[in-house]
Amino acid sequence: MSGESPATRPVGGTEYSWCRAVPGGTGVTVSALLLSKPPNITQLQSYVIKLQSFHPILRSKLRFDPATNGYSFFIPVDPPTQLIQACDGIQSFELVIEHEMITNPWVNMNLNQMNQVTEADVMFVTVYTLPDEKSAVVLRLHTAACDRAAATCLVRELVELIGSGGEIGSVKEEGLGFAIEDCIPAGKAHKPFWARGADMIGYSVNAFRFSNLEFKEVGFPNSTQLVRLKIGLEDTNRILSVCKSKGVKLFGVLAAAGFIAARVSKNLPDEQWEKYSVATLIDCRSALDPVLNDHNIGFYHSAVLNSHDIKGGEDLWDLAQKIYTSFTTAKDKNKHFTDMADLNFLMCKAIENPGLTPSSTLRTSLISVFEEPMTENTNEFYKEAGLLDHVGCASVHGVSPSLAIFDSIRDGDLDCACVYPSPTHSREQMQDFVGHMKKILVECGAANESCDSNLCVKLL
Ligand SMILES: *[C@@H]1O[C@H](CO)[C@@H](O)[C@H](O)[C@H]1NC(C)=O
Ligand SMILES: *[C@@H]1O[C@H](CO)[C@@H](O)[C@H](O)[C@H]1NC(C)=O
Repeated sequence: MSGESPATRPVGGTEYSWCRAVPGGTGVTVSALLLSKPPNITQLQSYVIKLQSFHPILRSKLRFDPATNGYSFFIPVDPPTQLIQACDGIQSFELVIEHEMITNPWVNMNLNQMNQVTEADVMFVTVYTLPDEKSAVVLRLHTAACDRAAATCLVRELVELIGSGGEIGSVKEEGLGFAIEDCIPAGKAHKPFWARGADMIGYSVNAFRFSNLEFKEVGFPNSTQLVRLKIGLEDTNRILSVCKSKGVKLFGVLAAAGFIAARVSKNLPDEQWEKYSVATLIDCRSALDPVLNDHNIGFYHSAVLNSHDIKGGEDLWDLAQKIYTSFTTAKDKNKHFTDMADLNFLMCKAIENPGLTPSSTLRTSLISVFEEPMTENTNEFYKEAGLLDHVGCASVHGVSPSLAIFDSIRDGDLDCACVYPSPTHSREQMQDFVGHMKKILVECGAANESCDSNLCVKLL
């Protein structure tokens, strides 16, 4: 990386897609801490300034220039004086997270602005006073500047700063970092022209034609809601050990449980096929040139889109294996690099033409999962900081899947933040849906033998 720290750089292709998506409501990244005591605001402010000094992109702003139709990051000469906002009157941690996902400071940064340069910070910090002396500290970030791995890293650094009284350091980043497209290893993004054409036809004709969950509520989605899926240590260990013995990653079985629960929710006649799709997000940091790390704050994920025919009665682990195999086949062919631009293009097309998506709901797949869960373990600083809970997720009421799963293994428990758009899907529907997924995972997933999902269905 260069020693110079450029004060401005234009966004790359993937970042550009996020700049288009975020004003529509997808990609407001929220990382929220629940603390047992109110933080000292003066100190918190100094910790946030430390985070910004470790990671200059956090003090940057995004600028949209209508003259060029382009976006760029730049570091303003004068740092803001008031970094932390305060908010009270919200009654629970989960409601704080939902409130944050619809608090969108980038909503006006779109291409329709009449010849006006618009600018906005990429990070906001808010402290909420909650009942019972508890409080929440929330980082809200533009996804172009911060993906899930980066948000998790920031939260870890912030908790360690709070818990250590500001003693903890971090690797200092230079400048505004890189766009992912500029770090793809030589040759990996190459795709023959004919293959690109064929895949684009495949994507554009099929991408939005997959079966979905029922749209229980009508209206243009204008908010994102949260359901949590938590599985205790013993069951989590059992699920992970079956994953290991079958050579399947956790996301495969999460997606399989989602497909089975979706098929069951529709009460279809036996043997009627439905095609469900899953977007699997790959953190590309370790495969980039230069190799990056979680403390490289930015957006370095790429998606692989796969679909599967489901007729009911599938065995959970067989389906998980199928999902996992089609993912690895795509990844081995470097599809996450070769098709990056195509998928970004498609996402922008859907934003411009919601009519391309089922019932104009902007849904592009059933479910999204991450290739790897985040792993978080309590340490002495977490205890010192009074950390009770942590949720990291991002809004999805613009163009997005019906359910986005942000999974983590926290002190050995599986803890997933599952988010969905509203209206479109109702809270009751999605609580049921996620509840069914949990049942399938616990009853079938943790059983170290094959398990006909009809059995799961009977259990539901
Ligand atoms: C907050 O921290 C500052 C700096 O360490 C200290 O001077 C101040 O007394 C603290 N405030 C409270 C309310 O504890
Ligand atoms: C979303 O729209 C509905 C009407 O369709 C309205 O009742 C609701 O208050 C809106 N929510 C937000 C967060 O704007």
